[in-house]
Amino acid sequence: MMTGTTASPGTKATPMSFLLPSSFSLRASKSSNLWLMRRLPVNVRCVSSSPAADTSYTTKVSRNANIAKLQAGYLFREMAKRRAAHLLKHPDAEIISLGVGDTTEPIPEVITNAMAERAHALSTVDGYSGYGAEQGEKKLRAAIAATYYADLGIEEADVFVSDGAKCDISRLQVLFGSNVKIAAQDPSYPVYVDSSVIMGQTDLYQQDVQKYGNIEYMRCSPENGFFPDLSSVPRTDIIFFCSPNNPTGAAASRDQLTQLVKFAKDNGSIIVYDSAYAMYISDDSPKSIFEIPGAKEVAMETASFSKYAGFTGVRLGWTVVPKELLFSDGHSVAKDFNRIVCTSFNGASTISQAGGLGCLSPEGLQAMEDVIGFYKENTKIIVDTFTSLGFNVYGAKNAPYVWVHFPGRNSWDVFAEILEKAHVVTTPGSGFGPGGEGFVRVSAFGHRESIIEAARRLKQLYK
Ligand SMILES: Cc1ncc(COP(=O)(O)O)c(C=O)c1O
Repeated sequence: MMTGTTASPGTKATPMSFLLPSSFSLRASKSSNLWLMRRLPVNVRCVSSSPAADTSYTTKVSRNANIAKLQAGYLFREMAKRRAAHLLKHPDAEIISLGVGDTTEPIPEVITNAMAERAHALSTVDGYSGYGAEQGEKKLRAAIAATYYADLGIEEADVFVSDGAKCDISRLQVLFGSNVKIAAQDPSYPVYVDSSVIMGQTDLYQQDVQKYGNIEYMRCSPENGFFPDLSSVPRTDIIFFCSPNNPTGAAASRDQLTQLVKFAKDNGSIIVYDSAYAMYISDDSPKSIFEIPGAKEVAMETASFSKYAGFTGVRLGWTVVPKELLFSDGHSVAKDFNRIVCTSFNGASTISQAGGLGCLSPEGLQAMEDVIGFYKENTKIIVDTFTSLGFNVYGAKNAPYVWVHFPGRNSWDVFAEILEKAHVVTTPGSGFGPGGEGFVRVSAFGHRESIIEAARRLKQLYK
């Protein structure tokens, strides 16, 4: 455990702040820019804490019953566990990870330069800034509105800049509270369902059907073109809809999204539209739900720079909540979301936001297109590999994911087989919902040589 105290072994710990020189003046030192270099006599040491298993002491706090409903680990944690176990068994294995969906290519320099410039400015008096607006910098909000929602009637004030789409999904769940019922595509990004469970919107997990009670799972399969049969979906308050979808890679067409908006309007539901992969769309599928007339009254949209600019570690995303979107009592959804954001979030990092502005410069946009183009070439290699082996593959065209069908097989078994025999990590489809059973998701995020090597190993395995 890292402690912020000063102590040498055997001496009493002293809080760090006591060691600031008594004459220390932040303003005076800041203007000379020297204070950063002054070395404080701080000796930070690691103190091991006793493992939880060693103690029989328990608090009197009962566990959150909603968290107790969650099954096993979060999908990607479970995969990491199995990967680690594989490495223990095969310490020399050169594992190729096409699993989690983390980006691999360097962030284009035009973007890192923008971040570096802002970072350096922070060490000058004029360039320093502390807390910013919780909703993000006006300039970035305006640039997002102009770049992604030009002519769609979305304005700067409708855009809430964030530390990523995943974090926003949790904040949206806090906004809705525990008394709503959600629908989600099956399969889909696990965060919609898991955050719903944590919020207490669901009943217990039903092992027989592998679903939580009080969630509508909208089945998306090759048979229905990966778009749910809305005539058989009961009304819910909230509809999470991800397009292009993770994991299937399917992007909904204009006609399908028009049906979805009508369905939401007929039912008085709110759509939370996740467009984290919109820039991967290469056909004429809409890139935003707001391309559909009337959507502003029934939808909000969350998005991210993660998969466009390699910002999975930098962290920057946004959520659009149009002013036209109202709760049943006429109250503005955006106003309540603003309240949640201001209460639980202190704004995205200023350095990330500078990066966001870099992304949206003409050179930045071109650079993101180039990175996306690179991953799409990877996608083609993966698709060609599996199709040459006789598999049916889906997705890929509008997303960095290839959804590979292994009819009749358990997807964790396929995951284990590919890991064991090819040392390649994929993602078992069932981790995205029961509708993912019989599939694995193969991610196109990877260095080219890794993708080619993975393709070679897969061809050997399934020839
Ligand atoms: C559909 C979808 N939404 C959101 C996210 C999370 O994005 P972020 O990195 O902005 O939190 C992911 C990440 O994989 C995703 O697949």
